[in-house]
Amino acid sequence: MNNNIHRLYQIANKSEKIILGLMSGTSLDGLDLALCKVAENGVNTKLQLLHFETVEYDIDFKKHIHSIFCKEKVSLEKLCLMNEHIGLVHSQIINKTLAKWNIKNSDVDIIASHGQTIYHSPKTKHHQTEFGNATLQIGDADHIAFNTNIITISDFRQKHIAAGGEGAPLAIYGDFFLLSSKNENRILLNIGGIANFTFLPSSLNIDEVICTDVGAGNTLMDSYTQHHFPNKYYDENAAIAMQGSVSDDLLKALCNHEFFKQPFPKTTGQEIFNLQFVKNALVASNTMQISVLDVMATLNYFTAYTIAEAIKQNIQHKNYCIYASGGGVNNPLLMQNLQQQLPNTQIQSTAILGINPNAKEAILFAVLANETICGSSDFYHQSNKNFLAITMGKISFSK
Ligand SMILES: Nc1ncnc2c1ncn2[C@@H]1O[C@H](COP(=O)(O)OP(=O)(O)O)[C@@H](O)[C@H]1O
Ligand SMILES: [Mg+2]
Repeated sequence: MNNNIHRLYQIANKSEKIILGLMSGTSLDGLDLALCKVAENGVNTKLQLLHFETVEYDIDFKKHIHSIFCKEKVSLEKLCLMNEHIGLVHSQIINKTLAKWNIKNSDVDIIASHGQTIYHSPKTKHHQTEFGNATLQIGDADHIAFNTNIITISDFRQKHIAAGGEGAPLAIYGDFFLLSSKNENRILLNIGGIANFTFLPSSLNIDEVICTDVGAGNTLMDSYTQHHFPNKYYDENAAIAMQGSVSDDLLKALCNHEFFKQPFPKTTGQEIFNLQFVKNALVASNTMQISVLDVMATLNYFTAYTIAEAIKQNIQHKNYCIYASGGGVNNPLLMQNLQQQLPNTQIQSTAILGINPNAKEAILFAVLANETICGSSDFYHQSNKNFLAITMGKISFSK
């Protein structure tokens, strides 16, 4: 037997595994690293977060990613170079961060690398009948495995697409395994670049679990801030949006996009929710003359409004609690707007459930890596079409 296969077999048989979950979302803010101790699998999964850190990307690296991110036309050479370069940069960040935590690379069993999404195009976006759903994450995992000497699992989304899904949201697995409760109906809301939620019924009935993207998370606010305030990457603590007022006309135009008319569950990305989307709405509503502050206030309100609408349309249960994660929980006006839209619902951070809201997505990929090497495929013969596949991801050996 090849030594690498033997090593993987040994890891799969360990009662506790140390898995480093990596997430670099569409906000392009940095790489989240969550070092987890994971035992068992499926609904019995036990997970303890040992260390967490977000390592911010430097400006040049962000610029390189932006040059190929969510654009219909990019240089094929640049794309090719960036696949290798992101893998290399991520491996350097991993080595530095493990050293900072005083963790030896040999103590980590598996790395779960999400990679950098650069394009997401479900059929509902591209409308080309001869093509199916598609998504692309880059940052070659062989670079990570080779440079860290740790077996790396990556490219989690393709199996979901191969099985008929849109490759997203994948949060449903970890949310269902780690956070379902028979005591209450829960919504796990993640507000990253794009926002998505998972509904977890107290019945624990998998057929009632719902998981969908809802539209923009922070992305419109981020893009508009970056465009009008060159030194800012995002509207920190909503300082800009708080100075403006909501324009009803602009709000109506923003809501008037075909994405909001498509049935749930659905997925999306910055291919739709970008600066051009805002410009089109400003023109359509004849609000080009309103101030930057008013546009920001409207984008903030719009983001909360579309999240709340998606929840109201999907969830018929009277009682449920919302547990929020992702960078959006740090935006006080966004959370206030959301609470105003859902006045009878308690909205709290996932911290109250023992899950660091900034680490949650990276943790969920550690869970998927655990399922890939020791999950039970029996579980996946369920009828919920969100749970389409397991043993997701491709395995890269170090040597
Ligand atoms: N203090 C804050 N005030 C307002 N927004 C914030 C704050 N901290 C983080 N954010 C938002 O969170 C985003 C990052 O969220 P994150 O969950 O990492 O998204 P992604 O998964 O897309 O990388 C930032 O781009 C910013 O919009
Ligand atoms: Mg991020």
